[in-house]
Amino acid sequence: MSQSKYRGPKGTYDVLPGDAGTKREPHERPEMWAWIEAIARKTFARYNYREVRTPVFEEADLFVRSVGESSDIVRKEMFTFTDRGGRELSLRPEGTAGVVRAYVERSMDRMARPVKLWYTGPMFRYERQQKGRYRQHSQIGAEILGSADPLVDVEAMALLYDIHRQAGVREEVIHVNNLGDLETRERYVPELKAYLEKHRPDLDPDSVARLDTNPLRTFDSKDANTQALLEDAPKLEEYQTDDARTHFSAVTSGLDALGIPYRVDPALVRGFDYYTLTVFEAKSYALGAQDAVGGGGRYNDLVRDIGGPDMPGIGFGSGVERILLAASAPDLTPELDVYFVTLAPEARNVALKLAAELRSSGLSCDLDYLGRSAKAQFKQADRTGARFSVVIGADELAGNSCKVRDMQGGGEAAVPLSGGEVLKAVSG
Ligand code: HAM
Repeated sequence: MSQSKYRGPKGTYDVLPGDAGTKREPHERPEMWAWIEAIARKTFARYNYREVRTPVFEEADLFVRSVGESSDIVRKEMFTFTDRGGRELSLRPEGTAGVVRAYVERSMDRMARPVKLWYTGPMFRYERQQKGRYRQHSQIGAEILGSADPLVDVEAMALLYDIHRQAGVREEVIHVNNLGDLETRERYVPELKAYLEKHRPDLDPDSVARLDTNPLRTFDSKDANTQALLEDAPKLEEYQTDDARTHFSAVTSGLDALGIPYRVDPALVRGFDYYTLTVFEAKSYALGAQDAVGGGGRYNDLVRDIGGPDMPGIGFGSGVERILLAASAPDLTPELDVYFVTLAPEARNVALKLAAELRSSGLSCDLDYLGRSAKAQFKQADRTGARFSVVIGADELAGNSCKVRDMQGGGEAAVPLSGGEVLKAVSG
């Protein structure tokens, strides 16, 4: 056990190299992050998305307005604090609000539409800790602003699925639902509420608490009694306007055209107040309780609600930790091209210079900085996973050469002591 007086905050983890600590989850290994972020970056470029970076904290009120007062996130999960200037700020619990705030503040509605943006970074939610659920997690996300075309909904899901497929996410199905437009909701919610009111004594406490603010969220309840009651509740589907219905059928036919595995799931309501029409969640049936690898939806009223023009939007966020848990990721061991083994003090500067030359040619190199014995240096070369060791001793210096040893194949060759020659020997 370590003697450390301090521990990382609850619900957080460290990403560390090598075999630091004992058994580690994939998201605790830096090479996995580099791998998944490279997939995301490359894929977003193929779909013509531009990267954005917004602050990890924003005015608390932005999240109250967008994510919604009745959401679990705002009610129970935000890290909110007052700064020294008396401002109330929150660590971002999600990425959409900040991106939409920046879009409005920087008048990005003047850019060619639709504006297609992507981001990656940490999000903070004060949640109960369990496998796949952290107080600091990271998302890869996208927001598309300025088009109400249902094909944009299809693109968002296709893009999410594409990233997950390249990462090897197992047994993925996209659950999708139509929450309807404002008019649909104005017709439906009072009917649902009236029905739930009649059964108030049989509802679970959370659902009762949400009756006045957001009765739709009752569908999220895990309580068996509440779920049984919902079987006979009025169905949202029957209250859809023609526009909302037409939109959704264009979305599903687009998904059919692309052959994306999806399931229409009328119980999918998602925990944000900003959604309208299409909502979706990419689930991996290979995961346990926390099976949502990514989720998103359309938010046609959000830009206006936070003071911008009347602009539709849609987006998704996908949890990096969950992607890596659900992925059949390759076994990535970091590789070093060359480790220099120096057998004489005069060899050290020669190795230093050769390493600099090889690095500027794009190879990765390292050398001994602890004055180790020859045996210990070879052991270190092994540990670093070096493909080649380059041995320089007094004899080699006298002959103006070095020994290039293939650490996996086992062969060894004498090579003239120049960056170009060593490069040739290890690239061959
Ligand atoms: P969300 O469904 O709350 O959506 O989060 C997106 C994904 O982040 C989840 O599917 C999950 O993989 C991951 N995630 C969320 N909370 C945690 C946690 N505590 N620990 C680990 N992973 C977590 C949003 O955040 C929306 N902003 C998505 C969106 C973008 N909608 C429109 N645009």
